[in-house]
Amino acid sequence: MRIAVVGTGYVGLVAGTCFADVGNDVICVDNDVNKIEMLNNGKIPIYEPGLEEMVKRNVTQERLVFTTDIKSAVEKSQIIFIAVGTPPKEDGSADLQHVLAVAREIGKHMNGPKIIVNKSTVPVGTADKVRDEVKKHTHYDFSVVSNPEFLKEGAAIDDFLKPDRVVVGTDNEETAETMRNLYAPFVRTGKPILIMDVRSAELTKYAANAMLATKISFINEIANLCEKVGADVEMVRKGIGTDRRIGPYFIFPGTGYGGSCFPKDVKAIIRTAREYGMELKILEAVESVNNRQKTILLDKIKNYFNNDLKGKVLAVWGLSFKPNTDDMREAPAISLIRALVKEGAKIRAHDPEALKEAEWRFEDLVKTKDVFLIKKRYEALEGADGLIIMTEWNEFREPDFYLIKEMLKRSVIFDGRNLYDPKRMAKISIDYFPIGRPSSL
Ligand code: NAD
Ligand code: UGA
Repeated sequence: MRIAVVGTGYVGLVAGTCFADVGNDVICVDNDVNKIEMLNNGKIPIYEPGLEEMVKRNVTQERLVFTTDIKSAVEKSQIIFIAVGTPPKEDGSADLQHVLAVAREIGKHMNGPKIIVNKSTVPVGTADKVRDEVKKHTHYDFSVVSNPEFLKEGAAIDDFLKPDRVVVGTDNEETAETMRNLYAPFVRTGKPILIMDVRSAELTKYAANAMLATKISFINEIANLCEKVGADVEMVRKGIGTDRRIGPYFIFPGTGYGGSCFPKDVKAIIRTAREYGMELKILEAVESVNNRQKTILLDKIKNYFNNDLKGKVLAVWGLSFKPNTDDMREAPAISLIRALVKEGAKIRAHDPEALKEAEWRFEDLVKTKDVFLIKKRYEALEGADGLIIMTEWNEFREPDFYLIKEMLKRSVIFDGRNLYDPKRMAKISIDYFPIGRPSSL
């Protein structure tokens, strides 16, 4: 099939590349000239394991091209995906300006019947808005499909190639058939392609993210309770996760969920409900628990240093919102580092992939020499009073604890990801403060 994907970010680039990889001809479009130039020079603007080789392979085979020219992309394609950002507005609702701008462009450049597929995460009713916008500019036939994306950053290719399910919202049987054919190569193990009405498809995406965010806030509350009652959340997590009705996935406690999706999507579904006169009480609680959890380590750190962080130097391992990505959108590390600096601490931060993004996110604090961005993990420990773990990158899982002890002024680790065994830390005399587990003291 001939496909255009408008928006070449985390979703658009991965989706476009995977569609090309199964043999389709794909044109990826973006209005960011630098991004397209990079891609045309063989450079990948994001860090996503496996993506670089896959892009290269498909570009070489001339199945995948990158352009800023939306007109020719629309003209040459039967199916056009919209995969642009839908960031939160101040009131929490999803900002649809990019989606509707693309709809307008598609409408203007239609040269025959097309299928327009909304892959961006958008509130219920957006397909109607896209349809109205396209219709203003064309007399050709088209259908608007809702096809939300469920991939996770860091595992995006695998998720896209082997999805648990594909959700397609359309009331047109012919369009449904085309979408079934398009996704058939990805569901060969028997995973379902769920064809449903457009509104249900749009809501499915928010309901899925909201459910996952709920699991995380739930286990974080249980973790905080564990600390109060002297229980170990790692035991409780396993104890409940072995019940098949609960399951072992997505119940890892930590410093709260971050990323470009859960925070904004929880806000947006709350906002949608409000527009219909409804309060989503569970999700409001999920959001407030998460906001609190993002700085949960601050109390532990302040407590340990007798409420005086002035002049203290703290090393931070991990800045991205999760491992295997360079993405720092809504990363808990941002709130924690800013809070620590406010208390008078200096930060020496290391991340294997996110330092480039950290440069502009912490530009002000780097300038004032409150934050230092360090390329190597152990160099971040130089002159530091303690170590904080914010992201569970693999390379932080089994570090040289004796070197850590030797380098830190105080042998203390505050671990937002529960990477180490408190008993082992006690044995080697490292003061260790995990989440929801007994500390080593
Ligand atoms: P992103 O910010 O990484 O990429 C969006 C791209 O769209 C950018 O490159 C931007 O330049 C481009 N763009 C914006 N306006 C444009 C226009 N008018 N014409 C052409 N290009 C334009 O965003 P993302 O993370 O890929 O997310 C895209 C959508 O997918 C969002 O709605 C998001 O909620 C959803 N989603 C994201 C993920 C994820 O893991 N990141 C997963 C599932 C769904
Ligand atoms: C999430 C969903 O998992 C995807 O299915 C969805 O497509 C995507 O949002 C989206 O809509 O954009 P992503 O944000 O990339 O994907 O990453 P996750 O692995 O879900 O992690 C999100 C946050 O939750 C991270 O900060 C992570 O550290 C945290 N998390 C995750 C926990 O604290 N505990 C867990 O058990 C799992």
